[in-house]
Amino acid sequence: GRKFFVGGNWKCNGTIEEVKKIVSTLNDSKAPPQDVVVVVSPPFVFLPLVQSLLRPDFQVAAQNCWVKKGGAFTGEVSAEILVNLGIPWVILGHSERRSLLGESNEFVGDKVAYALSQGLKVIACVGETLEQREAGSTVDVVAAQTKAIAERISDWKNIVVAYEPVWAIGTGKVATPDQAQEVHSELRKWLTDNVNAEVAESTRIIYGGSVNGANSKELAAQLDIDGFLVGGASLKPEFVYIINSAT
Ligand code: 13P
Repeated sequence: GRKFFVGGNWKCNGTIEEVKKIVSTLNDSKAPPQDVVVVVSPPFVFLPLVQSLLRPDFQVAAQNCWVKKGGAFTGEVSAEILVNLGIPWVILGHSERRSLLGESNEFVGDKVAYALSQGLKVIACVGETLEQREAGSTVDVVAAQTKAIAERISDWKNIVVAYEPVWAIGTGKVATPDQAQEVHSELRKWLTDNVNAEVAESTRIIYGGSVNGANSKELAAQLDIDGFLVGGASLKPEFVYIINSAT
């Protein structure tokens, strides 16, 4: 089975005081860590603080890293630096970076391959815009995004795919359980046809986009939804409820 996976993407939010408060809420929670992988992703500068305070059965992720070996790349953080700090996970290809910072499918694929090669585990994000959905190209878009990754890697054991429809991110407009399940199932089929059946069966495909305490249980019940990548609600106490929504 695919172990349920819940990531909290804090994006560009938080103060030292708020970070301490969120972490203490998580630490006090009765989440069943043996059944769920929990990963929280604060902004880079808070990573050491969160890592030092967070209960040991929860993990941390960076929200990005540089595409290749570090060096003269002002403002960037390399995979090697994350490894050196003991950060196990990195989120790559988030739609906010694809759209606002112009990260292409190929660039994201290069990042995923490099991060994996350095020993990081990767949450790789894919998803269509509203315009692409309305044009009927959702499956083509997520397949092309996944293909750019698949062409560059051979081992899938350290990668989680996050399906995050852009129109559902931060909008309160969550995909219905049927809409999400449909794309997750198409993605799994794509993996079967283009990678292999074993990878398709074992790779977790998690959903992101306006997940909250009121909708997470119904989404979690879908056959091909193996967890969540939560934005806004991961900064609130209801994240604890979302962590527990598969049980
Ligand atoms: P929201 O949960 O705020 O919609 O954000 C989802 C997301 O982008 C997680 O990476």
